[in-house]
Amino acid sequence: MQAITKILTEIVSDAFEKSGYDRALGAVTASDRLDLCQFQCNGAFSGAKLYKKAPFMIAEDVAAVLREDGIFEKAEVVKPGFLNLTLSDEYMISVIKNIEADEFCGIPQAEKPQTIIIDYGGPNVAKPLHIGHLRSAIIGESLKRLARACGNTVYGDVHLGDWGLQIGLVIAELNERYPDWKCFAEDFDADKDKIVPLSAELLCEVYPFASAKSKENEEFKEKAHTATFELQNGRVGYIALWKEILRVSVMDLKDNYSKLDVDFDYWYGESDADKYIPELMKILEDKKLSYESNGALVVDVALESDKAPMPPVIVRKSDNSSIYATTDLATIIQREKDFKPDKIWYVVDKRQELHFTQVFRCARRAELVPAETELEFLGFGTMNGKDGKPYKTRDGGVMRLSDLIDTVTETSLDRLENSAFVSDEDKEDYAAKLGMAALKFGDLINHRAKDYIFDLDKFLSAEGKTGIYLLYTVSRINSIMKKAGESRSEFTGIYTNAERELMLKLVMTGDTFNYAMDEKAPNYVCENAYQLAVSFSRFYHENHIMDEQDEAKKASWLALAKLTRKVIVKHLDILGITAVENM
Ligand code: ARG
Repeated sequence: MQAITKILTEIVSDAFEKSGYDRALGAVTASDRLDLCQFQCNGAFSGAKLYKKAPFMIAEDVAAVLREDGIFEKAEVVKPGFLNLTLSDEYMISVIKNIEADEFCGIPQAEKPQTIIIDYGGPNVAKPLHIGHLRSAIIGESLKRLARACGNTVYGDVHLGDWGLQIGLVIAELNERYPDWKCFAEDFDADKDKIVPLSAELLCEVYPFASAKSKENEEFKEKAHTATFELQNGRVGYIALWKEILRVSVMDLKDNYSKLDVDFDYWYGESDADKYIPELMKILEDKKLSYESNGALVVDVALESDKAPMPPVIVRKSDNSSIYATTDLATIIQREKDFKPDKIWYVVDKRQELHFTQVFRCARRAELVPAETELEFLGFGTMNGKDGKPYKTRDGGVMRLSDLIDTVTETSLDRLENSAFVSDEDKEDYAAKLGMAALKFGDLINHRAKDYIFDLDKFLSAEGKTGIYLLYTVSRINSIMKKAGESRSEFTGIYTNAERELMLKLVMTGDTFNYAMDEKAPNYVCENAYQLAVSFSRFYHENHIMDEQDEAKKASWLALAKLTRKVIVKHLDILGITAVENM
């Protein structure tokens, strides 16, 4: 079904037309003064210029038509020409029933569904996930679910960093530690020779060690560079070892992402783009875009209108190795070939904005995708500690994502210690779900581009804009439904203001989703879920559902509680949050 403002715009446009005015004047928006009306239309003001008539008179003509069909309880003109609208209860209920019956829960479906690739996660093989990877995973996953819920075909691609210097560092270090391994021999035979299985622990330890070593040891650094270059040029022993590094690393990554309930349709890596690099280079050369500069190959991407300096993008370094921009450009070729996407969204730290501006401009100049294909950088801010600086471990190091997840889960387990609602065997499962709800909602409630402060106490609070408050609301409705058992549940009318307010929020949900999708911003979904919960809470406190003697009233309230639960759970699902039964 369509968003309510769209439906009402049609109705009001019809009324403009019926009154002899242009129907394009009929745009309806939500009211910002709920004390006056629920919706408004300001079209009479533009009409005044068009028809040389007072806006008040135009609005009156339209209101007279609108008063006829029972959709509005109030179609009122306020001088100098505002048209204030409030739905009749009958109409409100008919919309609510449509939402109840809608398989998409009232979320408007795209008129022209698009194919969207979301590049998120962006972990690097051989390096453990750290908290810098958290936001990309949470925001990207939520955008994927949001775009899907709106009827688009969406593919999530993790875009593994599996081809860079970090692999060369690991290979060089392993070579120094285990020179006898067959994979280091010149005559390594992929068919016959075995690779020594690696462990996740070893891998975790080797990379930081090798990285630190390369900073003080020139000779080792050189070795790592050579190893990277030889790997990228197909040295068999290195490829075999790299595959083993990949296997162990991806296993560990999948384990972490599954704790976050984040999953990807494609586990492509930078290495998968490698085979498109020759094609990329040829296009850049044929179109005369690339040229040599200080031994490197570069493409100009500056525009006259640039206010800040925009350096050329380097597509090949002087030592002939390809770099970050090269793989991103080649990946665009790969994606165009495989999916012909309408949009590619990159959910990456906003500090990488310059890189993406360069890459997109180069891709446009080289026409790697059709002009109408959207390439968009959705940068996100930093998760800070209470001191306002990027969140760190106690000793000032970068915190591993798995440690953060453990901290959050353990803290929520502590809070459940004395819970009368959760049985002992459920506690671990609940702690994981509550922890994730706290963490994800605490992140997603902020506009993605903003920095925010990681405050676990606040995130785990059952009051305020938190994931826990939402889970609590759902669990409260669960217990009402349990008590109600087989009681009749059916919308029969609107009996109180609190109901009307809650229904209006439910009815506005379609608009929220349109907005969140246009802005590519899950925080609007968070805000709406919170608003629904607040309105539900007011409704619940003012009306005593289970004690109600009037059968029809009780049935209607139960139906409203049930629908509210369904819609909130849908919001949570889009945020990647799982509700719990009882808490
Ligand atoms: N691996 C990169 C990093 O850790 C992020 C990748 C983002 N995606 C992309 N297409 N470049 O910084």
